Amino acid sequence: MAKKTIRDVEWAGKRALVRVDFNVPQDDTGAITDDTRIRAALPTIRYLLENGASVVLMSHLGRPKGKVNAKYSMRPVVERLFELLPEASEVKKTEVITGESAEAAAAALRPGQVLMLENTRFDPREEKNDPEMSAELAKLGDVFVNDAFGAAHRANASTEGVAHLLPGVAGLLLEKELAFIGGALEDPARPFVTIIGGAKISDKINVIDNLLGKVNALLIGGGMANTFLLAQGKTMGDSLIEPDSVDVARALITKAETSGARLILPVDAVIADAFSASANTQVVSVDAVPAGWRVLDIGPETAKIYADEVKASKTVIWNGPMGVFEMQPFASGTFAVAQAMADASAIGAITIIGGGDSVAAIEQAGLADKMSHVSTGGGASLELLEGKVLPGVAALADR
Ligand code: 3PG
Repeated sequence: MAKKTIRDVEWAGKRALVRVDFNVPQDDTGAITDDTRIRAALPTIRYLLENGASVVLMSHLGRPKGKVNAKYSMRPVVERLFELLPEASEVKKTEVITGESAEAAAAALRPGQVLMLENTRFDPREEKNDPEMSAELAKLGDVFVNDAFGAAHRANASTEGVAHLLPGVAGLLLEKELAFIGGALEDPARPFVTIIGGAKISDKINVIDNLLGKVNALLIGGGMANTFLLAQGKTMGDSLIEPDSVDVARALITKAETSGARLILPVDAVIADAFSASANTQVVSVDAVPAGWRVLDIGPETAKIYADEVKASKTVIWNGPMGVFEMQPFASGTFAVAQAMADASAIGAITIIGGGDSVAAIEQAGLADKMSHVSTGGGASLELLEGKVLPGVAALADR
């Protein structure tokens, strides 16, 4: 790890100002439907408390666009944190983010106590990375800890700006995410295979481009495979395609030929006559998609080829589903990859799920605990796969 971490700081009597990513999904009543991100930050919070610090937590929640909005209050998050962290002598919440009352609440903290600020995005200055907001936040702690991997690709006042004003170190979750994803990209055990899926190629052009220079094989699935197949001259019926990305797909196929990475595309598909779980379906070769039908999953032969590739690798990163897995008739390809990842883990491969829909799929398959690492970051993990430097990491103190 090139950056300092919380293990490099003497914490007794200090106030830690900790950026976490508690941007958790909620239902219509505001109840938290998945507390993974809160649980993922507990090791850092516990480490700080056990080492004699008090903790001031800050996070965004949703996209309230710089306005106070009760729907995005941190209140339910604080309640859940209180349940998950009974050893903290107190978990308090302020109604504010910065200013005199936040400063008074932070100053009153005793070692072992935790304070959660209100949603940082209630302040319009947060997403503008306004230096005045960073300076106000910096008054609330002695040392800045960034443990918000999921928000590390955002250069905001609470993720990046404040790191220039206080000594800034990585939390344990941030360290772990970078060790797994960054480690795989920099120095992978080989063969190194990535599986990239999802609906649109345009979202992942830079990911595929960067990975082609690093992997042994790159397997493509999901809607984006259609545009690659179209670029190879196949007809794709009524499938989702991106006409503007056909040239890019062709260029990526050419890059794969010169880079030495094998770019592997589906050979068969599950097709349907409507985008519906009750549509008529059939399995066809990708050379034989009829007009009026659309590809909604990779076919069984492709699933077997992909599973064999995964099981023969030593490092695997997976980002994006192979089909419309939310509908049972089009879930087999995604679940076959999930099972292959679990099988690869069992024989010693490093298996990494890179955020977003693939995390939902692996959880639905009941296989999340079989993976070496399930990332808490969607956009952040994609930016790492693109080879970008995350601003929330770059601003931390070098080792
Ligand atoms: C996420 O959920 O990916 C992070 O919390 C970042 O949220 P954002 O996309 O609203 O910046």
